[in-house]
Formats: sequence, structure tokens, C-alpha cells
Amino acid sequence: MAGSVLWQAGAEWEVHALSRGPALLEREGLYWYTLADPCDPARLRRLLQDIRPHAIVHTAAIADIDYCEAHRDLADKINVGLTQTLAELCVELGAKLVHCSTDNVFDGEHAPYREEDAPGPVNCYAETKVAAERIVLALPVPAVVARLAAVVGLPVLGAGNSFLSRMRASFEHGREVGVPPAEVRTPVDVITLGQALLELAGDAHTGIFHLAGNDILNRYEMVRRIAARLGFSEGLVVPNDPTGIPGRASRPRDVSLDNAKARNHLKTPMRSLDDGLALILDAERRLVK
Ligand SMILES: NC(=O)c1ccc[n+]([C@@H]2O[C@H](COP(=O)([O-])OP(=O)(O)OC[C@H]3O[C@@H](n4cnc5c(N)ncnc54)[C@H](OP(=O)(O)O)[C@@H]3O)[C@@H](O)[C@H]2O)c1
Repeated sequence: MAGSVLWQAGAEWEVHALSRGPALLEREGLYWYTLADPCDPARLRRLLQDIRPHAIVHTAAIADIDYCEAHRDLADKINVGLTQTLAELCVELGAKLVHCSTDNVFDGEHAPYREEDAPGPVNCYAETKVAAERIVLALPVPAVVARLAAVVGLPVLGAGNSFLSRMRASFEHGREVGVPPAEVRTPVDVITLGQALLELAGDAHTGIFHLAGNDILNRYEMVRRIAARLGFSEGLVVPNDPTGIPGRASRPRDVSLDNAKARNHLKTPMRSLDDGLALILDAERRLVK
């Protein structure tokens, strides 16, 4: 996701990327790049004092739900502690904070969810994201909590967590992909997300925004549609029930997000899954050239 923001910021922004790994170096030139661990607060402070950003788009998190459940202290340190540090630095520097949160803050039993609905976390990951939201929403500087629905995208800058690229690799090898029909989501493509996060960083918007696609789909329907769009047999997609897998954290059932606020207030259009997939494949073609 960070890659989509960096790739699309273009000439409009002077963009600085901060990452612990070299993957983003691949396209250095599109943006300034610093290899650093954001969990070193003194280093982070010096860096940001040098850059003096207008806005910070905070995408860093441990987003693996099962990993968070098994590593609660680390999940708390990264998802909450780092947000707290960035929030304090935003106050000090007068920068706007655009924080990436998740549809998973909701309990999954009262969808579709609007921005003002009360969170009800059902796992450790969601608890940390709710705690981070509270920090951001209490800030005395302009701040946005962008709650992202399930993200569909390819790692445009050679980095990132992409179930689409893992799934495509399975399809290419003729392997079946099992997905739970019980989980309902409003998938959003990573290109639209990058555009919307940049708009939220640059314009006067504050508060909570739901960034979600226009289609409400269970994961099984979603992946079948993706398989067809990528030119693979929908028969490679099989329903499964992962609830009994040892160590698997609870997932909320239906966290469909109502995206009316984003549709009414942002210039970036919220899109259908098919239109989002078209954007992703077009971006991939342009990057490969
Ligand atoms: N993917 C989704 O479907 C989805 C849905 C809703 C919300 N979100 C939210 O969107 C944001 C980005 O998600 P993503 O899927 O793109 O996540 P990701 O690729 O798994 O991780 C985002 C970044 O967090 C940083 N990070 C991870 N562990 C860290 C650690 N131990 N110490 C320091 N930094 C660490 C990494 O930065 P470097 O490796 O570059 O240092 C990583 O690239 C997250 O806030 C997530 O909660 C994602």
C-alpha cells in the first residue's frame, strides 16, 4: 500500500519514504528514501525535524492478524506505540497525520458500518488498531483515520503484503485456493487507496473516512471474480472453513464498510472490484514497460 502512495504522489509532492528494508530503493528517484527502523524514536525525530513534512501517511503496522494474536506485546509496540510516537511528532512539527486503520475494528455483526459506528474488536490486531485510532482522533493537529477495507493489489514497488500476487502464483501453478465464504468484505483496490490517501493528506479533510469498494462480497465470490478477471478458471477457487485451524485468531464475519462519506466528500471515486482490478492490471503493465 505504501508503494501505491509513493508511486502516485508524482510531481505534486516531495515524497520521503521511510522503510526498514531495501525493496523501495528499486524506484528511488520517484521519492527520497531513508533506510531506518521507525521504532528508534530519536532517529525518527531527527529525520522528521530535517524533512519538516506537511503530512505523514502512516501505513506501518503489523497487519498479520494471527501473528498479532501470538505476539501481543510486539503488536502493541508497533501498532499503538509507533502511532503514539508519530502523533507526538506531528504535534511538535505541526504536520497532518493520515493514519491507516482497518474494517477489522468492527465486530462483524452489524454491517454495513458507517464512520460513526462504535468499534468492537474481536482480536488483538483489531484492539491495537482501535487504540491507535483513539490516539489519532484526540490530536490537536489535523488528523485523519482512514479505515481501509480488504485491500486488493499487486506490490507495485516490489514490496508489500499482497494476497493477489500469492493467489495469482497459485493459479499459475494450477493450484486451488481455499477461501472462507463466511467472511464478507467491501474490497478496495490499492490504486484507488493510494489516490484517496494522498487526497486526504493534501486537502482539509479531518476525522474518520471509510475507504472501501462499492461491492459487498464474501471472500469466495471475491476471489472467483478475481480469478475470472485474471483469466483463470473459477473452479480453482474452493470454499473452506478455516475456523478450526490452531492458532487462528477470530475474524469478524461481515465488516462491509459504508463508503458514502468518501463518495460524497472525496474527488477520488470509490470503485467496483472490476474497475479496481482494471486499474491494478493497467498499473502493472505500465510499470513493466
Ligand atoms: N492489507 C490489507 O488488506 C489492509 C486492510 C485494512 C487495513 N490495512 C492497514 O493498512 C496498513 C498497511 O497494510 P499492509 O497490508 O500494506 O501492511 P504490510 O505490508 O504488512 O506492512 C506495512 C508496513 O509496516 C511496517 N512494519 C511491519 N512490521 C514492522 C515492525 N515490526 N517494525 C517496524 N515496521 C514494521 C513495514 O514497513 P517496512 O518493511 O517498509 O519497514 C511494512 O511494510 C496497515 O496499517 C494495516 O493495518 C491493511
